[in-house]
Amino acid sequence: PQYENIKVDVVGTKKNVGLIQLNRPKALNALCKPLFIELGKAVNDFDADQSIAAIIITGNEKAFAAGADIKEMQNNTYSSNTKDGFLKQWEDISNCGKPVIAAVNGFALGGGCELAMLCDIIYAGEKAKFGQPEINIGTIPGAGGTQRLPRYVGKSKAMEIVLTGNFIDAHEAEKMGLVSKVFPVDKLLEETIKLAERIGTHSPLIVKMAKQAVNQAYETTLKSGLVYEKSIFYGTFATADRKEGMTAFIDKRSPNFKNE
Ligand code: HXC
Repeated sequence: PQYENIKVDVVGTKKNVGLIQLNRPKALNALCKPLFIELGKAVNDFDADQSIAAIIITGNEKAFAAGADIKEMQNNTYSSNTKDGFLKQWEDISNCGKPVIAAVNGFALGGGCELAMLCDIIYAGEKAKFGQPEINIGTIPGAGGTQRLPRYVGKSKAMEIVLTGNFIDAHEAEKMGLVSKVFPVDKLLEETIKLAERIGTHSPLIVKMAKQAVNQAYETTLKSGLVYEKSIFYGTFATADRKEGMTAFIDKRSPNFKNE
């Protein structure tokens, strides 16, 4: 499909990585509704495409995304938000079964930081800046910032970020556990593609089950999370790929996963 606000490509030596680049550079990739509709569609299409192992969402060197589009929401009202379900398209991405990785260079602010946190893994370039500056414009995070950020970094740091609107740099973000690795700006995308390709060497079916199990940690108590994990773990024994993985190890060869 033809997109106006994003660019979509298939990358990696095996052409099994879906790459989505946010592409409204003049507005620092502000996340207007048309952009989000396109992003949701691109993620859904890659999720459904058997040849794709993992999905990367990135921006450009100046901005991953500087937030929801302030110009678009300036005249919204409580009733228009409620009637139109403002921001409801954002849920599509967290429903994706495949790993989604954010590669963040530049600003990831407000909704941009929330979009990165919706992803499964965040890699950052060393000039990246994260923040929830909604408080500066008289509102609060509305796409998970007040809920996901404390789960990443704990209450004190999350409160500080949300209540001050101050930005944090890539190294601080890594130290607090928001970001898993930091790279030089010009190496970020290739390192993120390598990560996606590494995930792509595994059984897509088992990767999906592993992602589901980790996500459950955010939804439940430890005790019921452990029950959930056990049932998924037992479930892997109903797959051909589990048998192949263990057999290949014992035969001292590489596994040949069939996604079955
Ligand atoms: C709409 C935006 C925008 C945004 C930047 N622009 N951020 N437009 N919505 N969130 C536009 C500017 O208006 C400007 O357009 C152009 O992008 C370049 O931005 P500048 O401000 O000139 O760039 P710079 O001086 O380098 O400053 C960069 C910046 C600043 C520090 C990132 O742009 C900024 O503070 N942006 C807003 C950040 C923010 O408050 N985000 C949270 C949004 S609220 P023109 O036309 O003037 O050239 C939010 C709510 C979340 O996300 C709720 C759930 C999603």
